[in-house]
Amino acid sequence: MKEKIISIINQKGGVGKTTTVINLAAGLSMKSKKILVIDLDPQGNATTGLGLSNTDKSNDTIYSVLNGTKNISDVICKTKFNNLDLIKSNVDLSGLEVETAGDNRRAFILKDQIMAYLNDSGASYDYVLIDCPPSLSLLTIMALVASNSLVVPLQTEFFALEGLTQLMKTIERIKNNLNPELIIRGILLTMYDKRNKLSSQVEKEARQYFQDKVYQTVVPRNVRLSEAPSHGVPVLIYDKNCPGSKSYFSFTEEFLNQEKIMESAA
Ligand SMILES: Nc1ncnc2c1ncn2[C@@H]1O[C@H](COP(=O)(O)OP(=O)(O)OP(=O)(O)O)[C@@H](O)[C@H]1O
Ligand SMILES: [Mg+2]
Repeated sequence: MKEKIISIINQKGGVGKTTTVINLAAGLSMKSKKILVIDLDPQGNATTGLGLSNTDKSNDTIYSVLNGTKNISDVICKTKFNNLDLIKSNVDLSGLEVETAGDNRRAFILKDQIMAYLNDSGASYDYVLIDCPPSLSLLTIMALVASNSLVVPLQTEFFALEGLTQLMKTIERIKNNLNPELIIRGILLTMYDKRNKLSSQVEKEARQYFQDKVYQTVVPRNVRLSEAPSHGVPVLIYDKNCPGSKSYFSFTEEFLNQEKIMESAA
């Protein structure tokens, strides 16, 4: 299987997960990589950020896949961007945890569905990117079980590093019990404000502690990044020259280079 399944994960809210999913997906698709984004958050922000609706009462969502009523092939939507497809989400997904309470293999549902689809459909995606919700709930566990690797956005603010210990413990637990191949590809520093000394302090601490796991690219705080979603387009298309876009273009390059390094080491 050539597809790489990558979750963008951090249980802290509002740290730039969805922004990173949308713009990494856009950046890779512009490099002729075929991308499937799975919106695994009941908020449905990746869905609207890529120009689709999370309020149209559609059943073609990841929820229908996870509750067993649809297959992945039934729910993949085209976006208006080349090489970029999406599985939508909406608020229905918030009921999943309670509804699957009796299923002791429920942590594997997403993995099994993705594997069945990739093995049977002749699909030709290069990357599947999963946008995780801000929690360490069942949905996040499902994403950790289904993924080969993880990108962790880290907001360069006070408290940012605090939640990371708990996330690392959860990742370790999943690795030891459910998904031994899982790796952290890297940590992406986001919302960096160069006028704020806290930002550089968090950067320094993160680099000291996580060393070369922290990407060289740092995403600045940039208002264009927060405007783009309301237009339903990635910032890379909304304003390709703004500082936010430059950082996500650079992150895309770094992500692809990292791949070359990982492959030559294998
Ligand atoms: N670098 C940035 N500069 C300015 N605004 C940003 C930046 N990155 C993200 N934002 C904005 O901050 C808010 C939170 O970002 P985003 O939705 O990507 O975070 P998230 O981690 O996915 O949030 P949640 O945990 O709720 O899913 C959004 O309004 C987004 O547009
Ligand atoms: Mg989000």
